[in-house]
Amino acid sequence: MKRNNIKQIRSNDNFLVFGSPFIEKPEIDEVVSILNAGWLGTGPKVAQFESDFSKYKRVTFAAAVNSCTAALHLSLLVAGLEDGDEVITTPLTFCATINAIIHSGAKPVLADIDPITMNISPDQVEKKITSKTRAIIPVHFAGRPCDMDALKTIAHKYNLKIIEDCAHAIETVYKGKNAGSFGDFACFSFYVTKNVVTGEGGMVFTKRKEDVDRIKILALHGMSKDAWRRFADDGYKHYAVVECGFKYNMTDIQAAIGIHQLQRVEKYWLRRQTVWNRYNEGLSKVPIVIPGKVESNTRHAYHLYTILIDEKMSGVSRDKFLNLMTEQNIGVGVHYLSIPEHLYYQKSFGWKPEDYPNAMRIGRQTVSLPLSAKLTDKDVRDVIEAVNLCILSK
Ligand SMILES: Cc1ncc(COP(=O)(O)O)c(C=O)c1O
Repeated sequence: MKRNNIKQIRSNDNFLVFGSPFIEKPEIDEVVSILNAGWLGTGPKVAQFESDFSKYKRVTFAAAVNSCTAALHLSLLVAGLEDGDEVITTPLTFCATINAIIHSGAKPVLADIDPITMNISPDQVEKKITSKTRAIIPVHFAGRPCDMDALKTIAHKYNLKIIEDCAHAIETVYKGKNAGSFGDFACFSFYVTKNVVTGEGGMVFTKRKEDVDRIKILALHGMSKDAWRRFADDGYKHYAVVECGFKYNMTDIQAAIGIHQLQRVEKYWLRRQTVWNRYNEGLSKVPIVIPGKVESNTRHAYHLYTILIDEKMSGVSRDKFLNLMTEQNIGVGVHYLSIPEHLYYQKSFGWKPEDYPNAMRIGRQTVSLPLSAKLTDKDVRDVIEAVNLCILSK
């Protein structure tokens, strides 16, 4: 089939959805059985998911919540941030990282990224430290671990908390240690496009028991611990409201999906690694930039496969390329326009994209290709063929 004299790789009724999750029968069956049983709220499945996920990541204290955004917000509150405190993070992240800082009452401060790893540059972090700095939020971008040795050294030197944004980093390992085990807090996402999904969902890890206890209280209206058991069959229990909390709890329906997804996390990781390697091979002759090599002694989570379309090199603009891929019925993403490109932050903080040149350039050139365990070999071939075609026939 031809359209505008350009070969059509996929037909209109076969659109390849970007980030489509791989949902299988065990989670479908379990959700149905939960619906039949009638306990839909926060209950035993959430407790099991917390336990399974913390075993997988080899950490002790975990609290499931309803998003990574909630996880970040609660971590910042429990870290004890106060109005006017500063938190340093990356300009190449989802807006949720920044918004959580603002909601906690603190002021976000950006430190530019390393252009190859696309992760926050420890040198830039150190330059941004003031007497008001209290915390750093590194984001393990696309699933590639940040330079945690350098960041830990800085945090120690200036007595700062580390809150890891692990939204992309479920399977990430840095020098033998799991992402999420470095910070005082670590926040995960199980949003629909993530490597393990629960629909919406998140998890917080803490180093200290008192922090996880407080997060559980804050996540459910500020009601005393174990409030979710108040309707159990061993008699009504009054609850006490001990803080002014939020409605951030995960439900058993969400947790049931996550429990089964987690059982396949390594199988899915292997599949995405295969897709990643095929993209590397199949795109090696196209004038684009493909992701940097995975550093030795680390494990990449293969959450996002991002290519760079530099108009001078590729002969097509990034935005034109996005449209051409969509016309080929292949869903693509942008992760992310750098944070200072957005009007709200420009107005609130006076940020300018040019002040963070690496994040600005990457944000203007980046395109994420589909990278889900659900992709068939044919889907992967279609993506490679479409990228080649969109660049070479522009
Ligand atoms: C880096 C990063 N941080 C935070 C979030 C927020 O996650 P959630 O949608 O679970 O709130 C996302 C979601 O895409 C993300 O990519």
